[in-house]
Amino acid sequence: MSFSPRTIAFFLAVLITTITVVFLSFVPGVTAAMLFVVGVSCLFGSFFFVFYTIDILVFREVEQIYKTIQKMKIRDFDISRKSLIRSVNPIKRLNSEISTYVTRKQQEIDELKKMEQFRREFLADVSHELKTPIFAAQGFIHTLLDGAKEDPKVLDRFLNKAAKSLDGLDALVRDLVTLSQVEKGDLKMHFENIDIKHITEDIFEQLESKAQSRGVTLKIKPKDMQSAWVLADKQRISQVITNLVDNAIKYGKENGKIIVEIEEEKKYYQISVEDDGPGIAPEHLARIFERFYRIDKSRSRETGGTGLGLAIVKHILNAHHSKISVTSKIDKGTRFTFKLPFASQELSR
Ligand SMILES: Nc1ncnc2c1ncn2[C@@H]1O[C@H](COP(=O)(O)OP(=O)(O)OP(=O)(O)O)[C@@H](O)[C@H]1O
Ligand SMILES: [Mg+2]
Repeated sequence: MSFSPRTIAFFLAVLITTITVVFLSFVPGVTAAMLFVVGVSCLFGSFFFVFYTIDILVFREVEQIYKTIQKMKIRDFDISRKSLIRSVNPIKRLNSEISTYVTRKQQEIDELKKMEQFRREFLADVSHELKTPIFAAQGFIHTLLDGAKEDPKVLDRFLNKAAKSLDGLDALVRDLVTLSQVEKGDLKMHFENIDIKHITEDIFEQLESKAQSRGVTLKIKPKDMQSAWVLADKQRISQVITNLVDNAIKYGKENGKIIVEIEEEKKYYQISVEDDGPGIAPEHLARIFERFYRIDKSRSRETGGTGLGLAIVKHILNAHHSKISVTSKIDKGTRFTFKLPFASQELSR
């Protein structure tokens, strides 16, 4: 039941009048006419007094607060001014509304702070990563200009080193562009029916010499599989498998074995890339998909890694409505797994 200030004032006025009249009726010499006059004036007097007191002290103040809130264009309040004025306890109601609002705003502020922190760290990481190859190339070129170019052997070696640094810079910038495109949703996926077995064989061919240099053997399981058709973006999925196999070669053990396993499930193929390398400790496992995260920074730098590969892999698979998972055992090896849906019948028609 809701009370307006008028109803409250009326009930209070009746109460005050009744008490006054009852008391007066016990006073000797008071006539009925006198009781009537006192009753009527008491009723009106107390009614207006109570009404204005409640109205001015409580409801008008509340209305004022509400108007201020509306001026601030706070849409988060879901109570109307009318319902607020009519409510039994407008101050309590307003208070609960405000505390809900403050909690919501606090969450937004926390989120913004987190994003700001993330942005700052990202900027610091990017500048650091850019600085390294630029400084290296700059160093080699300046040394050459300062006279080292006279020796043809040194000239050749330093130019090669400078070119290698600039190649690294180029790869880094390309990875950054891909990452920002995928995150902004600008990167249009081109879904088509592709044979994942065939793509893996192509990637093995490309990475063959790198694998050989570490004595690593590359294998596809099951051996007798002819093809595995999935619906995916060919170029992007190649990028995913390339990075996973490349990581397994770089961070796996020397003379080790890498197996890409393609398993047929009910509606999808499950693809795993497994190595028998040193494995990843649990405290790093959850973080390796973060941008620029490398477990052994000096070792990754030697191998030319920037720590963007797995962040890109994660985003590409998200865009395929898939997820990458990883399991690893120290000194036993690491296994990355993801799923891709079967090829579309309609597309193949
Ligand atoms: N198979 C693996 N075994 C052990 N550690 C791994 C493996 N794969 C990835 N890691 C660790 O995870 C880190 C992140 O991998 P990611 O592919 O994102 O970066 P990267 O290979 O160092 O650089 P990029 O891929 O950009 O060239 C690596 O630096 C490495 O420390
Ligand atoms: Mg990598």
